Amino acid sequence: MKNSDLSRRKDDHLDIVLDRYKATSRISAGWAQLQFEHCALPELDHGAIDLRATLLGVELQAPLLISSMTGGANRSEAINRHLAEAAQELGIAMGVGSQRVSLQTGNDQGLTRELRRLAPDIVLLSNIGAAQLLEKDGLDLARRAVDALQANGLIIHLNPLQEAVQAEGDRNWRGVLTQIARVVDSLEVPVIVKEVGAGLSASVARSLAEAGVQVIDVAGAGGTSWAAVEGERAANTADRAVAMAFSDWGIPTASAVQAIRNALPDVALIASGGVRDGVDAAKAIRLGADIVGQAAGALPGATLSTEAVIEHFQIIIRQLRTACFCTGSANLAALRHAPLLASQA
Ligand SMILES: Cc1cc2nc3c(=O)[nH]c(=O)nc-3n(C[C@H](O)[C@H](O)[C@H](O)COP(=O)(O)O)c2cc1C
Repeated sequence: MKNSDLSRRKDDHLDIVLDRYKATSRISAGWAQLQFEHCALPELDHGAIDLRATLLGVELQAPLLISSMTGGANRSEAINRHLAEAAQELGIAMGVGSQRVSLQTGNDQGLTRELRRLAPDIVLLSNIGAAQLLEKDGLDLARRAVDALQANGLIIHLNPLQEAVQAEGDRNWRGVLTQIARVVDSLEVPVIVKEVGAGLSASVARSLAEAGVQVIDVAGAGGTSWAAVEGERAANTADRAVAMAFSDWGIPTASAVQAIRNALPDVALIASGGVRDGVDAAKAIRLGADIVGQAAGALPGATLSTEAVIEHFQIIIRQLRTACFCTGSANLAALRHAPLLASQA
């Protein structure tokens, strides 16, 4: 596919995702099934609750990751700048969207060391698709993605459903795991693997951990559905019908987090996919996540300004702090043991 077509496709994605009704999964992420037991005697100072967390050895002020988002050439530069400046201000982590277009064309979309200059202290994560790793310059692309941003790590995204329902998708996925293991061996920074909204199962997570992947991001179902997004932009009714049948496909985020934490007690685990607010984030941490990611929810602010992104995440942080307060949790370690309503404990 021509690069201008790739960029147009990404622009379509932004427009569809900004219209949440069109882009959202037909199943829920699973947060409603989990309710904390309210604590009317917290014996805590709300302002003194410690939300700090660690990702790749770097301390975050709150356990939050701005999840990877690419956009078309026209809008990406501003979106990335707003997100990076907000992440720096708040002390949270940021993953950029796929760097494929920026590395393979002259249009860098702001995915350069300038981004690192704007956010010198954050955990900044590069991003490349698993399908691109299979191309003959795949390993080189992975190295260049990290180098372009002086990133702390590389995210590899697994999106087989999206590729399968996308008219121009990459459909030969033989050899992906072996290639991920090669990338792990050849890079000097850690590798993170995520889905894009259909979730990772415990057995896939185990294979990835065995291949040396250091961080798993479930990117589960219940938020952005790439089947729905691709269905919206399908060029004909047959392609649309194939894609839309999968708009309720995937492992709900809450189930994926729980299953992976049970299978891999020590793996660094990110919960994302359908995280709407700080209460969802608290539930994800209670289920075993170390860090919580959000993509689409941050996009409207990102199209506006740095301040809008800061305000958006400040609300999430206040919600998370209040969830800690009302469960009597002084920090995230305590939140992990917060009592649930009797029917769910
Ligand atoms: C506009 C947009 C673009 C995205 N582009 C990428 C990408 O380039 N690479 C990637 O790993 N994930 C990408 N994602 C997927 C997100 O990182 C995330 O896994 C998914 O949207 C589920 O999270 P959410 O429900 O909070 O949106 C994108 C998401 C959105 C909304």
